[in-house]
Amino acid sequence: MNFDNSSSDRRAQIRKILASLPRVTLANLPTPLEVLPRLSSALGGPKLFVKRDDLTGLAFGGNKTRQLEFVMADALKNNPEIFVTGANIQSNWSRQATAAAVKMGIPIVLVLRNSDMQEIQGNVLLDYWMGAEVHFVDEPDMTRIQEHIDDMVAELRGQGMRAFKLDSWSPLTAIGYVNMMVELQEQCETLDIAPTRLWLAAAGPTQAGIVLGARLLEWDIKITGVAPLQWTNATMPDLTAQVANEAAEMLGVELRITPDEIENLDAYIGAGYAIPSPAGLDAMRLAARTDALLLDPVYTGKAMAGLIDQVRLGHVTAEDTVIFVHTGGLPANFAYRQAIQEMSKGNET
Ligand SMILES: Cc1ncc(COP(=O)(O)O)c(C=O)c1O
Repeated sequence: MNFDNSSSDRRAQIRKILASLPRVTLANLPTPLEVLPRLSSALGGPKLFVKRDDLTGLAFGGNKTRQLEFVMADALKNNPEIFVTGANIQSNWSRQATAAAVKMGIPIVLVLRNSDMQEIQGNVLLDYWMGAEVHFVDEPDMTRIQEHIDDMVAELRGQGMRAFKLDSWSPLTAIGYVNMMVELQEQCETLDIAPTRLWLAAAGPTQAGIVLGARLLEWDIKITGVAPLQWTNATMPDLTAQVANEAAEMLGVELRITPDEIENLDAYIGAGYAIPSPAGLDAMRLAARTDALLLDPVYTGKAMAGLIDQVRLGHVTAEDTVIFVHTGGLPANFAYRQAIQEMSKGNET
């Protein structure tokens, strides 16, 4: 396969722009790009690869570590004495943010949704273990957690502390995934593969960075996100395009992304966010028993269920070469051990 010089020139240009932004090293990069031969043949094609962003390395890793390299560096400019962030009780962002804060030697307060008082397991267990101060809120709406985080920042500032929010929706989060695309394209060239599709679990910022990265690289690859939830404040394509455009502005590039460029499938959420779906658990079991690929029940399992279904429907074909971006989330397996234990009883793959 021939690649002209221009793809490496474009990568060099993007790397130069990225290098102008403050960044702390948190991730082990590049993450591996691995082939999934047994899962591919179990699906009757397509050719499958996995980008192992579950191996970014920070306290069990995941996609948020790449994002935090830029978010944390920016936050440090404020000379913070305490960080605040949060999300759902099994938040992978919060675990990785806690680990990043620990590495910076700065305490962190987490505000976590825990309406049904789940047990202390998985991610939240690790939050405690790394020393986060955890506050639970009984908030049914995922979108409104940001208000609780802002309230906590205000409260701590009221006590005279330099409290600073680590913002999981900052455009800098998307920039972490522009960087991933540069890395991934180079790996594809080294392996001499020309992927047609890129597949991931996506709730906004990661897909925003991936779509923006592909546009900057002029990389002709179809990108599909699979939603783990529906936001109540806007549609996933709207939110994703918005973050992508804020990131583009921050990078000083002209191009703009429109919501119709964002393919995000919402058919695989199942009963709701963070509720394991039968199809997701099935997909997790198949991945585990073909290529020993461990997924999670909240994000990557549902994304894989989507991919399997789209192969079944003939929308992804044996002619396709698909890269599944493994965004991590593995500690949640332990919080959902009952569902996983039930599924492991069957012997079939
Ligand atoms: C394991 C995992 N995959 C995917 C995502 C989605 O990432 P984003 O919100 O950046 O789209 C998350 C978000 O928390 C996650 O934890």
